[in-house]
Amino acid sequence: MKKYTQIFQGTAFSSKSPKEVQILKDYLFCINANGMIEKVIAPEDTDYETLLETYQDKESFHRLAEGQYFFPGFIDLHVHAPQWAQSGTALDIPLYDWLNTYTFPLESKFSDLDFAKNVYQDVVSTLLANGTTTALYFATVHKEASLVLAEICSKKGQRGLVGKVVMDNLEQTPEFYRDADTQAALIDTEEFILAVKELAKSTKQGVYPVVTPRFIPSCTDDALKGLGALAAKYDTHIQSHCSESDWEHGYVQERFNKNDAFALHDFGLLSEKSVMAHCNFLNDNDADLFVETGTAVSHCPVSNAYFANSVIPIAHLHSKGVEIGLGSDISGGFSPSLFDNARQAVISSRMLEDGVNTSLPADGRGVPNSRITINEAFYFATAGGGESLSLPIGRLAENYAWDIQIIDINLPSARIPVFNSDEDLNDVFQKIMYLVRPENIREVWVQGEKVHSRA
Ligand code: GUN
Ligand code: FE
Repeated sequence: MKKYTQIFQGTAFSSKSPKEVQILKDYLFCINANGMIEKVIAPEDTDYETLLETYQDKESFHRLAEGQYFFPGFIDLHVHAPQWAQSGTALDIPLYDWLNTYTFPLESKFSDLDFAKNVYQDVVSTLLANGTTTALYFATVHKEASLVLAEICSKKGQRGLVGKVVMDNLEQTPEFYRDADTQAALIDTEEFILAVKELAKSTKQGVYPVVTPRFIPSCTDDALKGLGALAAKYDTHIQSHCSESDWEHGYVQERFNKNDAFALHDFGLLSEKSVMAHCNFLNDNDADLFVETGTAVSHCPVSNAYFANSVIPIAHLHSKGVEIGLGSDISGGFSPSLFDNARQAVISSRMLEDGVNTSLPADGRGVPNSRITINEAFYFATAGGGESLSLPIGRLAENYAWDIQIIDINLPSARIPVFNSDEDLNDVFQKIMYLVRPENIREVWVQGEKVHSRA
């Protein structure tokens, strides 16, 4: 019989499709030395009993207790790691003022590597404790501190995709917080890419450099062009903010006479490995361009509630075939939890809905077919995020990484109300999505390694 490094037994939830959650009741998950799921075995499969007999007394065998479930680890497609230090503050002012009054002064402090280390250790641990096994991070303009973040992800076992932020436009960046000049921004980015690629060689779960123009206003044309070229040269991921606020959207219109999507495309910044945050004002042409180029939207519903002054038509974008994942946007969004963001994604979509031609009320105040379900929000937080990054993560299926959260619904201090032992597992799943707190997340594993435990 084939040898496995570890075997896990229990009931798991994984997206079958955006609308449908697959329930794997009492399955075996066979993990290889690389931390990948090599085999998924149902109780009725022929190998099931033999594998159980062979492995169940070994240290490499893990059986879930009553009331515990496997969830895929969450994939946060938009986190500003330095902004963890101000999470929850100043959300009552517009984006432009928030950036200049609070955010740029805070991020400028990350030239101090001790300060950076302190905040970055804490944000990575906090995200892991909230079930986030992969995160797409903005760091700051500082090359060294950005590398510190990548090193902390590597050490703590989180799959980190990290960008050194580029801000070289003298007109839209403060003197105390910007790259020295365009040339320096590009040289630092290239050195950062090479350093992270080196670090990746000794990082089991993977760590990736990300080309990161903060957003169009903060960058010169030369920087945007140079960054597009670097991304192509090193085949890296790319991230930025796109069509987020009225001010920013208007600024790009005035500068290029086109929307963000086409402007970014002109500089080579839309690719299969691009993830654009927010995208509240994407029109159908922009969305088609995203589909054509394989660019994904990082949907940040909590942050959007504060800064967008509108609700993104996420169901419409998804129906057009745009890849979508979820982002916390710390600290434009205050919560480090993708459970919170999944809930807000559903709630926001319901506020846009008008139930014409459905059983919902048709009141003429909303847009038909806008709502998403909690299953779709779960898909965005898991499989959708994996597809957006073009990585084999976000599903509990063969040839995917063993990135999981173990959810315990039976904690006296954080009870999830399941009172019937034969309760429909679809209902159990929905209760977990809506009611989980960090206490319920008992263990988190990335690439076959335990990286967080409350036991
Ligand atoms: N646009 C440019 N920078 C930022 C940022 O830090 N947060 C958000 N939400 N939007 C931005
Ligand atoms: Fe952001």
